[in-house]
Amino acid sequence: MQSILRKNIDDLEGYTPGEQPKQPDLIKLNTNENPYPPSPKVLAAVRREISSSLRLYPDPVALELCKRAAALYNVGPENVMAGNGSDELLSILMRCYVGEGDSVAYPVPTYSLYETLVAIQGGESVIVPYADNFTIPSPLFFQSSKVTILCNPNAPSGTLEPVSEIARLARSVAGLLVVDEAYIDFADSDESAIALVKRFPNLVVLRTFSKAFSLAGMRVGLAFGGKDIIRSLMKVKDSYNLCRLSLAAAAAALEDVEWMQRNVARIQRTRRTLVRGLRRLGFDVHASQANFVMARLGRDSIRWLHEGLRRKGILVRFFDTPELCNMMRVTVGKPREIQALLRETAALLRGRGVTQRAS
Ligand SMILES: Cc1ncc(COP(=O)(O)O)c(C=O)c1O
Repeated sequence: MQSILRKNIDDLEGYTPGEQPKQPDLIKLNTNENPYPPSPKVLAAVRREISSSLRLYPDPVALELCKRAAALYNVGPENVMAGNGSDELLSILMRCYVGEGDSVAYPVPTYSLYETLVAIQGGESVIVPYADNFTIPSPLFFQSSKVTILCNPNAPSGTLEPVSEIARLARSVAGLLVVDEAYIDFADSDESAIALVKRFPNLVVLRTFSKAFSLAGMRVGLAFGGKDIIRSLMKVKDSYNLCRLSLAAAAAALEDVEWMQRNVARIQRTRRTLVRGLRRLGFDVHASQANFVMARLGRDSIRWLHEGLRRKGILVRFFDTPELCNMMRVTVGKPREIQALLRETAALLRGRGVTQRAS
């Protein structure tokens, strides 16, 4: 069957998601999940849904969820579409707009799924490297690509661009601009590019329930865009792309935004402790606006540190590429998890004879 496989799929390495270990007692700081549970209202809504109508198909257009999202984010229901995680929405966008040989531009390093999705389409990734300060690289403003993607806050840097820059980018690029706001709820300011959707017909903004709303296991994302774009995306999705439990959970989560915001505030506090602690240990750390921080140490690979932490039962994310192998990306967990990470990191650095910065 290999002989009839599309060549670009044969050549594809495939996206590697962060590890989801079976061992329950690990401190899991590797996939940017929320350390706090979802709202009790979400759990109640899921229980109600289980005991009612699982034998029936779910709403194919997620109307109730889209209406609630539209009211909360101040757009019309025709400007919203729900997806099976924002990953599915990214995939639908690519299937709609990117054919063989079409180009998609994005700055790097960023969420590496973009590259995989472009390759699946047989498209061409135009990668524009970030400078050390992680502001939007100027060549991105002059792109003639069909699609430009900006992750904001960016992963893995955690850095945030102001909405004024997103507007400037939407105005400058020739094609569609996709802004992936998976982590925006963790930013100190509450500016979102969703406010620009009415002004820019070439803009799509993606959100997820996996991070701030603590629902990674439910797989729900939202796309916001002009009604013509949303209508096109709807043609490509699976008929019933979200199950009943996911729809009930996400709709209930939007009824209790205060719960999410309280958890975000706790995570922002722990993030400050984590950044301070890592800097004290000698890491270069960007001022993160997400629920993770990127910490670099020297120039060489710190695989040894990841492996050492793993032996101590702590998982962080390591990217084995020449540009990123001297860094770890640490999800902001609970305070005691972050204390354990800082303690074990300090011990491993001492063991290697790496001197720490004076506090
Ligand atoms: C930047 C970015 N976008 C999208 C996603 C996917 O989110 P979802 O769980 O909604 O598919 C992730 C997941 O880690 C992410 O880091």
